[in-house]
Amino acid sequence: MESSTFHHDLALLDWQIELGVTEAILDAPVNRYEVPAEAPRAVSTKASAPAVQPTAVPVSGAPDAVAESERMASAANTLDDLRAAMAAYPHCDLKKGARNLVFSDGIPDARVMLVGEAPGRDEDLAGKPFVGRAGQLLDRMFAAIDMGRDREEAPLYITNVLPWRPPQNRDPRPEEIAMMKPFLLRHIALAEPEILVLIGNWSCVTLLGKRGITRLRGTWAQAAGLPALPMFHPAYLLRSPEFKREAWADLLSLKAHLKKDPAP
Ligand code: URA
Repeated sequence: MESSTFHHDLALLDWQIELGVTEAILDAPVNRYEVPAEAPRAVSTKASAPAVQPTAVPVSGAPDAVAESERMASAANTLDDLRAAMAAYPHCDLKKGARNLVFSDGIPDARVMLVGEAPGRDEDLAGKPFVGRAGQLLDRMFAAIDMGRDREEAPLYITNVLPWRPPQNRDPRPEEIAMMKPFLLRHIALAEPEILVLIGNWSCVTLLGKRGITRLRGTWAQAAGLPALPMFHPAYLLRSPEFKREAWADLLSLKAHLKKDPAP
């Protein structure tokens, strides 16, 4: 039997994905952090040049990168502008390893905006937040209080702190959060939700300046000038289902908050 057919190779790849393999590697190691001695030459001509040209930024000193994200974010007057500005932002290296920019999903007019951490493998492939196993649990959790990203009558709007997948799903780094936070704040300002739901530790770190979701969850706080409810991340609930009881209490708290302050 022919062993290296297309279908055989595809089945092997599927199997490796089943086993949890998320990256392809080469025979020889590649140092992706090495700074090339010479900047790569532009291959293309003017026609394909990005709208915003990269500017030099000190590798460790985030201030220039942050100043530029603040400038680009505040110049965006619509969500489409903001997505384009994020796509053109040159200083976040996560972009280089990602397949897609994951901007948002759901209905931008929603009263409730969910802020997660960062795309994983499935989200990177789909270009949408929370579509993998954790996302499916998130959908089931909100469906239990009759809310959903595509429910016209009780919609959700969903985004993440980082729009690009960190390699091997590692934690976001402080400088990545610092440079992408102005985009997130602008995203919230343009979407104008009434309530934020902070999904997991990293959105609390970013928007509340606090970590420790076990203590923070379920207690209403203020983030970006709005009432904000920290909740356990569904990926955590998949690993520790015994905490679903707390997540249910938080969903009911959200529902009660929405009822108490009905839409104008
Ligand atoms: N986890 C997140 O925080 N966001 C996603 O989009 C997917 C998984």
